[in-house]
Amino acid sequence: MSNKPKESGVEYAELKYKDKVIKLPIVIGTEGEVGIDIAELRKTTGMVTVDPSFLNTAVCYSKITYVDGENGILHYRGVSVDELVKNHRFVETAYLLLRGKLPKADQSKRFSKLLNEHSLLHEDMRHFFDRFPRAAHPMQIMSTMFDALSTFYPNVDALSMREDIDICAARLISTFRTMAAFAYKRSIGEPVVYPRSDLPYCANFLHMMFSSPVNPYEINPEVVKILNTLLILHADHEQNCSTTAVRTVGSAQVNLYSTISAGISALSGPLHGGANQAVIDMLKRIVKDGDVKKYIDKAKDKNSSFRLMGFGHRVYKTFDPRAVIIKKACHDFLATMNINDPLLEVAMHLEEVALKDDYFVSRNLYPNVDFYSGIIYRAIGIPENMFTVMFALARMPGWIAHWKEMISSQTKITRPRQIYVGKTMKHEK
Ligand code: SDX
Repeated sequence: MSNKPKESGVEYAELKYKDKVIKLPIVIGTEGEVGIDIAELRKTTGMVTVDPSFLNTAVCYSKITYVDGENGILHYRGVSVDELVKNHRFVETAYLLLRGKLPKADQSKRFSKLLNEHSLLHEDMRHFFDRFPRAAHPMQIMSTMFDALSTFYPNVDALSMREDIDICAARLISTFRTMAAFAYKRSIGEPVVYPRSDLPYCANFLHMMFSSPVNPYEINPEVVKILNTLLILHADHEQNCSTTAVRTVGSAQVNLYSTISAGISALSGPLHGGANQAVIDMLKRIVKDGDVKKYIDKAKDKNSSFRLMGFGHRVYKTFDPRAVIIKKACHDFLATMNINDPLLEVAMHLEEVALKDDYFVSRNLYPNVDFYSGIIYRAIGIPENMFTVMFALARMPGWIAHWKEMISSQTKITRPRQIYVGKTMKHEK
């Protein structure tokens, strides 16, 4: 069943080409977005539209997340991220994204119980970690392990639900957390720590990451709170690169585990989720150099491939609302934890200098979700190569929600067209 808005009082756009006038229906979203529906264009005219990287193309109708890039607004199912960060936990936000509404108390309890029941990794998979090189990047480990999950559990794909999707979703959200902690423990040569049934989602993750047989980790409520904030803010972001990968791969009726594995791989790119780790690398270089202006100039230099990591966004042409919340939360958390991180000072100085520079202002380049998040992860004690894993941990419910929406509203495989500009057959003579 398509999510396409009901066609009431349809307006039309007119496309004139040679002696033809083509009428194309206008669709208007619930937040007022206006689109030209070209679904029948090729069938009726033989023509296609051309839009590399989809800068101007809506690939679907979605009810999950709304991003207003001009006004810096972000809401999940109509609930603003500010409201979710203030009054809800990540698990409730995951429920909202997956089921379309915030859970009532009993639903929240049942969902937490489901997550807990599916938090263990199949024991045979635990030994997979022993076979990766110690220096393997955890994002590559996670995408491999997620693909392997499909060999251990009943298949769930667009055509066959051999397991209840809510159970499968709980396993994906919970097992990813367990695997992430296992990957970290393996990388530092410590024994893995199993999840505890008495701990809520974020506290359990911290327990699995930082407890050890000789050093029980004391869970600090401030750390749990800031982790919930970060996971909520990263939980979904409509048709970003990795979510588009999930919707595309899933449309071929690939099982959900392998489909999510494709999303993890897409997110690992430095232009996407990998940026949070790249920001810290950049800030450390600037602290070492002591020269912010040098990096601002490099970022503006067309002959340099250097970019100000954590700056700019395909959709936001003003402050990323998540960056505004994270910047304040970063300040408050470091003050509460009595941590003085020189990277924060440099980040704020960099932001101040950049936002006074016409190069950035004229291109609407503002701090995005990745600019300050790494400083908080550092303060929690999470290693830099795990920052993008944290992004994937948060994005799991968003990816699954989009996969569910795609399989319920789209029956065709995603297969864009192209304009061929290569050699023609007659060239062969
Ligand atoms: C995420 O899509 C999402 O929703 C993603 C995300 C999510 O929640 O899923 O929000 C998460 O991926 C955030 C973005 C993290 N990436 C980075 O911080 C990497 C640094 N940023 C850039 O690489 C860039 O801004 C992108 C990739 C984020 C967006 O690139 P676009 O939309 O393709 O824009 P562009 O590359 O065409 O840039 C437009 C202009 C260019 O200059 P001109 O050719 O016009 O002269 O702006 C310049 C670019 O050179 N530019 C930058 C810049 N970003 C853009 N110049 C210096 N530093 C930058 N960071």
